[in-house]
Amino acid sequence: MNLFQDKIKQLSHPPLPKRGKEEIKVLVDQLMDKMTLREKIGQLYQAAPEDAHIEGLHFDDSHATAQSIKEGLCGSILGIHTPENAYQLQKIAVEESRLGIPLFFGLDIIHGCRTTFPINLAMSCSFDPERIEEASRIAAKESAHTGINLTFSPMVDVVRDPRWGRVMESNGEDSYLSRILGRAYIRGYQQGDLSDNTSIGACVKHFAGYGAVEAGREYNTVDMSDRHLRMYHLPAYKSCVDEDCAGVMASFNVINGVPASCNRYLLTDILRNEWQYKGFVISDYTSTFEIMNHKITTDKKEVAKLCLHAGLDHEMVSTHYITYLEELVKENEVSVQTIEKSCRRILTFKYQLGLFDNPYKNIYDDPEQYMRLPEYRKAALEMAKRSIVLLKNDNQVLPLSRDKKIALIGPAAKTNHVVGGWGGLGRIEECISFSTGMENHGYQIAAHEGCSFEGSDNDGRLMEEAYQLAQDSDVILLAIGEPDSLTGEASSRSALGLTGRQLELAEKLKKLNKPMIGVIFTGRPLDLSWCAVHLDGLILGWYLGNETGNALASVISGEYNPSGRLTISFPRNVGQIPVYYNQLPTGRPSSTGGPGDLFKSCYTDIPNSPLYPFGYGLSYTTFAYSNLSLSTDCITGEEEAVISADITNTGNYPGKIISQLFIEALSFSVSRPVKEFKGFCHTDLEAGETKTVQFAITRDTLSYLNINNEMTPENRTYKIYVGSDSTTKNYLLLKYELSEVPKTNL
Ligand code: BGC
Repeated sequence: MNLFQDKIKQLSHPPLPKRGKEEIKVLVDQLMDKMTLREKIGQLYQAAPEDAHIEGLHFDDSHATAQSIKEGLCGSILGIHTPENAYQLQKIAVEESRLGIPLFFGLDIIHGCRTTFPINLAMSCSFDPERIEEASRIAAKESAHTGINLTFSPMVDVVRDPRWGRVMESNGEDSYLSRILGRAYIRGYQQGDLSDNTSIGACVKHFAGYGAVEAGREYNTVDMSDRHLRMYHLPAYKSCVDEDCAGVMASFNVINGVPASCNRYLLTDILRNEWQYKGFVISDYTSTFEIMNHKITTDKKEVAKLCLHAGLDHEMVSTHYITYLEELVKENEVSVQTIEKSCRRILTFKYQLGLFDNPYKNIYDDPEQYMRLPEYRKAALEMAKRSIVLLKNDNQVLPLSRDKKIALIGPAAKTNHVVGGWGGLGRIEECISFSTGMENHGYQIAAHEGCSFEGSDNDGRLMEEAYQLAQDSDVILLAIGEPDSLTGEASSRSALGLTGRQLELAEKLKKLNKPMIGVIFTGRPLDLSWCAVHLDGLILGWYLGNETGNALASVISGEYNPSGRLTISFPRNVGQIPVYYNQLPTGRPSSTGGPGDLFKSCYTDIPNSPLYPFGYGLSYTTFAYSNLSLSTDCITGEEEAVISADITNTGNYPGKIISQLFIEALSFSVSRPVKEFKGFCHTDLEAGETKTVQFAITRDTLSYLNINNEMTPENRTYKIYVGSDSTTKNYLLLKYELSEVPKTNL
């Protein structure tokens, strides 16, 4: 029992009053009238006590964070996730600081809190916003019982370079999908009502363009045209702003020469002026300090001034604001009004959360009873099944019947380190390993690691043991990939192969001439070219969180017919990066797609196409599209065309297909991608069944930023495709005619 449990037990959690915008504005004004300049500046600082994670820690008077809170020099806290620690700090804020302004507590809850869901990239492969909303709702409910008020999620950076370890946090390479999924996360966290006792604020990140770091190297530079930024990177952040996300996090990177944390074009011109964003902007962890490493200035005081003027409200960890802003005001370098604007945004968020009504709203004495409820685990399992992508299934080697003798070999066979990066409050011991999942599903398996992920077993003893064990099997399941420690922040890789000696292990087992199925554990697209050729079946298992083993076994047994689709292209090798479906055409397109199509745009050694393209994924059944039809061949103004297609389950299993809508402009005033993803829908079909799918096409669907920087479809003709992945060739032509804009007499 910790020191504060008795006190926490006495806390109550009544529903909080719902306050409208106007009411909150008045309350903030009244409070700000009482605040000194120093206290206003204090609200702009987020502290991250190093020892925040130590349960039962006593934040006594000598503790630096406790001191700053008492002095009114701290607005929020990063990293706290136990009720005791949150309680202590909040108590200091409300009882011992002059005005008793409550703190808010922020933490990275990225793909689940205690119930861990698949990594975000995996979840995106479900193309299922409803289930993603459910996952983030569950994450919010759990978080809201551990003291957390804000999560640094969703991450909607568009990523085309799998070398970047943070690709695992993203929704993949497409901005349209990321827009839709980003909003789903926010609805789940916030429910449109931050004052609800089970809501937490969502802070979208990393604004902007962090997914495009050069060479996939963490914390690296981004440089791109404004058109590119606006067409591919900004829309997903914008959609989160439209969904009323509480916060926006400025990214680490320099973009077009200016670090995001002091980038006025991004933080003020676009975010505030163009998008009318009303929430707060927070820096990334010490990203303001790093402005000096970017060699924008050598002076810390200048950092404070640059960031505040750019539109950054809240400094994460770095202390330039609390150290220098008062001085800058005295020197007339910064106005009080600018500081007040930022302070107002932080206080508004606190009022929206209801922290002034109940500063302890998320603090409960027994959080455990709210964690991993049976319905949460069920949702995590469903999400995990839908995140799996079947990449190869020669001779219908899958599903596997239970009478087969299975050798389950590889470093991921028995491990329960299957959460992936950013595991929230997830616990390894609560994860179902692959082997346990197989046993739970009634399979007789012999499991062996075969080698480590890292390649430390240099004498090959493990490999030999696995080889001997596999001799006695009917089929080999290879559980291979990259370790979960290589997924997430600071995990950039220059090579994308299986790590350590796993390829050697696979080659050795291949000599046994048995059916072999690879199950790939990874946080990113790996180079799977060997596997694609030599394995009979290939399942992309990602890192699936708590229910990993159960979800995999459910797909392997056929109990769940795989339906996931890739949201990021898998390259053939590192040299092919970036490879993505919506590339621009080239002046010399290769008709063969390479290799060696002389004087055409291709490689001499590999095809241009990725190993597996965006949208790709197999099922145990097969599907066929027919009767593609358009309601009209020309639309104008706000008219809508509807494209329909019949889809038939032509195989022997019931299954789900995710149909995808793409467009291609035949001409335009600027070069446009060979295909643009514009819609998707899920259809469940019994064997032999046919259903019709429909997509609406409007001006919006066809619009692109033209040569005059207008979002318009122009007067152009488009190919409208419906199919099962980005290589689909089923299309019909649709013309768009601009309507005359009526002139009004003023
Ligand atoms: C990451 C952010 C994260 C922050 C706080 C940073 O290093 O880039 O994504 O939200 O830390 O944990």
